[in-house]
Amino acid sequence: MVKVPKNAPLELLGPLGCGIQTGAGAVMNALKVRPGSSFATFGGGAVGLSAVMAARVAGATTIIAADVVPSRLELARELGATHIVNSWETDPVVAVREITGGGGAHYTLESSGRPAVLRQAIDALAARGTCGIVGAPALGTEASFDVNGVMTAGKRIIGIIEGDSKPDLFIPALVELYTQGRFPFDRLVKFYALEQINQAAEDSEKGITIKPIIRWES
Ligand SMILES: NC(=O)c1ccc[n+]([C@@H]2O[C@H](COP(=O)([O-])OP(=O)(O)OC[C@H]3O[C@@H](n4cnc5c(N)ncnc54)[C@H](O)[C@@H]3O)[C@@H](O)[C@H]2O)c1
Repeated sequence: MVKVPKNAPLELLGPLGCGIQTGAGAVMNALKVRPGSSFATFGGGAVGLSAVMAARVAGATTIIAADVVPSRLELARELGATHIVNSWETDPVVAVREITGGGGAHYTLESSGRPAVLRQAIDALAARGTCGIVGAPALGTEASFDVNGVMTAGKRIIGIIEGDSKPDLFIPALVELYTQGRFPFDRLVKFYALEQINQAAEDSEKGITIKPIIRWES
């Protein structure tokens, strides 16, 4: 149970309980992205796009979104990404290095749930940078990385569950940022009527809708 202000738009708030607090919290609570830093998300779904919005609030001055769906990349740009990378067209590790002047990003986030993409998120890190893992592949999935590349550069890799957030504090904070127009997560949401529930599931599955919400009209 999370208390929110009486004027908060309740019908919109459900997604804050999982993917959205995960992306925002990964940036704000776990990675603690600093003003003036560089941040790259690998995966621009609900989690990655929330991370982009949070990175802007946190003051990151280079915000890179890598995904394979052009519409998601365009939305990432509208939500605050300073650079977008289509990982099917461009090697995102090379792109992140170029964008950051060769050094790599201070923070990266893996939200695609793919081991090969996790490898990219680690490889794209700057020395002493931190990679957060939020993507969830099938249980038992293993991933590999260049051990010396991580060790000699002092890179850190951390797992993050639900954005390391204390929901009763963090969700009202996100609601307040939304109310101020600084965290426009409604851009990820599409409402469906109850009779459109199968359409909502299909749109979600196909990636057409990022966060479907079923409205239970009385
Ligand atoms: N750690 C947690 O507490 C937590 C909480 C919520 C969700 N998750 C997990 O986080 C992941 C993301 O959730 P979501 O709701 O954003 O899912 P999503 O499916 O909306 O987003 C995943 C994105 O990855 C992109 N992608 C696919 N292949 C890619 C590639 N090769 N390179 C870059 N991007 C690629 C997809 O196009 C998509 O936009 C899921 O695995 C989900 O299970 C974890």
